[in-house]
Order: sequence, then structure tokens, then C-alpha cells
Amino acid sequence: MRIRKAKRGDLDRIQELWWELIASHIGFDPPFYAKKPEKECLKTARRWHTSALKKPDSFILVAEDRHQIIGYLLGAVCKRPPIYLDARQGMIYSLVVTEDHRNRGVAKKLLKAAFSEFRKLKIKLVALNVDPKNRPGRKLYAGRGFRDRHVLVVKNL
Ligand SMILES: CC(C)(COP(=O)(O)OP(=O)(O)OC[C@H]1O[C@@H](n2cnc3c(N)ncnc32)[C@H](O)[C@@H]1OP(=O)(O)O)[C@@H](O)C(=O)NCCC(=O)NCCS
Repeated sequence: MRIRKAKRGDLDRIQELWWELIASHIGFDPPFYAKKPEKECLKTARRWHTSALKKPDSFILVAEDRHQIIGYLLGAVCKRPPIYLDARQGMIYSLVVTEDHRNRGVAKKLLKAAFSEFRKLKIKLVALNVDPKNRPGRKLYAGRGFRDRHVLVVKNL
């Protein structure tokens, strides 16, 4: 298994994995995660993934096993409010490993490679959102040194 930067030709597979990530979250909070039809979501995601490949301050990493992409991570630099001493942070917007390759250290390898990309971009703080009900996700990040910062509270009206 190896980790490499994604290319345009990987986008179809990345889209499939992205949908696997989205589908895995619906049961955590159905009203919160209720989505537009799959085709529409995939169109939006395609624009987003394509632009992440082009921008110098974002990247997509893929995990490849026997010529098959089994997981990917999308990272990007974003601005923090200018009151902070460090006004830039790295955000991990997507991380997914396809179901039959989970629990073998693939996500850990993708994260390690992402940290190295962020370091090259002179980033000192990395953040991401994780659903509190996402046990594998929570365990993965806690084990890689992420600490809780905010709790997003939501209410349906
Ligand atoms: C979360 C996810 C990316 C983990 O990928 P993975 O390749 O299986 O993770 P790894 O094998 O690198 O394991 C990382 C850690 O998580 C733990 N873990 C993995 N799957 C687990 C599970 N089902 N339950 C509990 N812990 C789990 C591992 O034991 C490991 O812990 P350790 O560091 O103490 O050994 C994967 O489950 C996934 O794609 N889930 C669906 C999408 C998702 O939730 N993405 C994260 C969004 S924030």
C-alpha cells in the first residue's frame, strides 16, 4: 500500500469514496445529514475535488493498494480570524477508507502524509470536524494527538 498525491484521473474513484463517507454519516443524525439527491451532491463534490487538485494550498492524497484506490484525504489551508497570532490553519475536510480495507492502519498513514504536506505549507495547527457518534473516527484522531476544541450544538426548529 502506498500514499501518493491524487491526479485528475483518480477523480471518479475519489467521488465514490466521498459518497461512502457521506452515506456512513446519515445514521448519526438523520435530520442534520439529510441530503439533496445523490446525483446533485456528486456534481457539487466533483467541482470541489477538482478545485482542490488545482489550488496550491490544498491537496488530495490517495491510498493505493494493488493499483486500486482504497482511501483518500482532502486537506486545505484556511484563514483564522486575524486576531490570532497564527492566522492560518490546515483543515482536513475528508478522510475515508473503503469498508473492506479498514482497521489496517490506512487512515493513520494518510494522516501522517497529510501532516507532512501541511508542514511543507508552514502550517502549525491542523483541525477537522468529527461526529461525536463516529467511534472509529474519534479513536483515530484521539490516537493521533487531536484534542477537542469546539462542540457544535444544533437544534431543529
Ligand atoms: C474513520 C476511518 C477513516 C478509519 O480508517 P482506518 O483505516 O480503518 O483506520 P486505521 O486502521 O488507521 O485505525 C486508526 C485507529 O482507529 C481505530 N479504529 C479503526 N476502526 C475502528 C472501529 N471500527 N472501532 C473502533 N476503533 C477503530 C484503530 O483501532 C486505530 O486505533 P489505534 O491507533 O489505537 O490502533 C474509517 O473507519 C472510515 O473511513 N470511516 C467512514 C468515514 C469516516 O467516518 N471518516 C472520518 C470522518 S471525520
